Amino acid sequence: MMRLEGKSALITGAARGIGKAFAARYAEEGATVAIGDINLAGAEETANEIGPNAYAVELDVTSQASIDAAIAAVELKAGGLDILVNNAALFDLAPITEISRESYQRLFDINVAGTLFTMQAAARSMIARGKGGKIINMASQAGRRGEALVGVYCATKAAVISLTQSAGLNLIQHGINVNAIAPGVVDGEHWDGVDALFARYEGLKPGQKKAEVGAAVPYGRMGTAEDLAGMAVFLASGDADYIVSQTYNVDGGNWMS
Ligand SMILES: NC(=O)c1ccc[n+]([C@@H]2O[C@H](COP(=O)([O-])OP(=O)(O)OC[C@H]3O[C@@H](n4cnc5c(N)ncnc54)[C@H](O)[C@@H]3O)[C@@H](O)[C@H]2O)c1
Repeated sequence: MMRLEGKSALITGAARGIGKAFAARYAEEGATVAIGDINLAGAEETANEIGPNAYAVELDVTSQASIDAAIAAVELKAGGLDILVNNAALFDLAPITEISRESYQRLFDINVAGTLFTMQAAARSMIARGKGGKIINMASQAGRRGEALVGVYCATKAAVISLTQSAGLNLIQHGINVNAIAPGVVDGEHWDGVDALFARYEGLKPGQKKAEVGAAVPYGRMGTAEDLAGMAVFLASGDADYIVSQTYNVDGGNWMS
């Protein structure tokens, strides 16, 4: 049985990486999926790859006009929104003494304000329709604990965990479940960039940081985007109706809470 039959989903930042894997799995489970991304060409390519159950929507989560237009596009195309995955985010890395205001602002604009105001627009749409819904925010193990070189990104993901708690408590009265997933280290283009930043700041060889973090995972390797997709389907499904404000670690055993 397909677990998301007839549901309408919007996944932000789904042109590549984890969001793309979630979109493919949601489509397999019977959902119609909007691939929302600032990279419209990438979103269109991903939608074509996934097939007729997916379509691209241009979305910059730092722009309120863009968020509102994307939600309106989903309402028009699919008759309403049942599932939002707040997945778009940016990473940066610097010692505390070198963090720039520009980097701080950019990360908070995308990772925190982007998550909050996309969640707000989705919740307004879901409440107006009166059928409840599911909102899943992408947190991170970085939100559970600080890291010496990752101060701003860690702070944004701690904020995502906190916003998930408050929004979950506020929105469950409308039948909207808000929960989050905290991945550990997930291989892909995102981590290629992270590896290059660590190489610069810690004097490592390319690929060395990836090898180190992968070897340190209790499961024995880095995660893949597909490793997370089961949790994303579960939290979007009716099986998660009684789950409110939680953040689930899907990280091969890196963190326990
Ligand atoms: N990869 C990991 O190891 C890891 C670990 C923990 C948490 N996460 C979280 O999982 C999520 C997905 O990570 P990923 O590895 O797939 O990242 P990624 O960098 O591969 O993909 C991010 C996507 O977001 C899009 N995007 C960037 N800015 C945007 C904006 N302003 N508006 C809309 N879209 C925008 C990009 O175009 C891209 O398609 C993120 O929230 C990330 O913080 C990832």
